[in-house]
Amino acid sequence: MNPTQWADVDEYIASMLIPSDPVLEAALQASAEAGLPPHNVSAAQGKFLALQVRALGAKRVLEVGTLGGYSSIWMARALPEGGRLITLEGNPKHVEVAESNIRRAELEGVVDVRLGVAAETLAQLVAGSADPFDFVFIDADKVNNTVYLARAIELTRPGGVIIIDNVVRSGAVLESESTDANVQGVRQLNEMLANDARVIATEVQTVGSKGYDGFAFIWVKE
Ligand code: SAH
Ligand code: DHB
Ligand code: MG
Repeated sequence: MNPTQWADVDEYIASMLIPSDPVLEAALQASAEAGLPPHNVSAAQGKFLALQVRALGAKRVLEVGTLGGYSSIWMARALPEGGRLITLEGNPKHVEVAESNIRRAELEGVVDVRLGVAAETLAQLVAGSADPFDFVFIDADKVNNTVYLARAIELTRPGGVIIIDNVVRSGAVLESESTDANVQGVRQLNEMLANDARVIATEVQTVGSKGYDGFAFIWVKE
């Protein structure tokens, strides 16, 4: 087993279950051409997020970390008529690319990209008593994972779900003395998940075209 095989299997899975999609492919191409880092979820992961939205019957989705809007488009397409996705991004160039990708996907009436430091935008949503979200996808800087989780729990309806990306980081999460702030951010997140009685959480390791990583699945108790 090696990363090439993981990517080959991802390609096989996509060839079987994920028809090629010009709009999603154009979003990735435009993101690459604009120099954005390839930190988008894979196609299989994007479809997994979309299926969470469908299975939950989510009408309101919140995303932290937009990049070029690839995962946003996957999730927004799974919303019912009248559904809404708010996605938070701190880099103005990423917002510009995302908005263009979202327009090409004809989702500008569904997706609301908010430029700003995510912790501040989240605090504004809490302070403004935003309607609760059914589903939250956290995929920004890992240093602030605990801040994002705390706000996300406040903003999610009872019975809603929060998914957090990149909680394994090629196994580096095991390194308790790591000087990588992102690794420490994931470890602090895990401390919080282990001790917060409002949620039930697990984490699943993944391999594929995005290497070896994993995600947290967090259920907000009813
Ligand atoms: N969810 C996207 C990938 C997001 S990559 C997808 O799968 O397509 C992470 C994004 O989070 C980057 O665009 C980065 O600019 C943004 N980000 C990082 N730190 C942030 C912060 N403090 N506030 C807002 N956005 C941030
Ligand atoms: C990085 C961030 C991500 O959200 C991701 O999925 C992969 C890598 C990063 O910052 O290195
Ligand atoms: Mg990620």
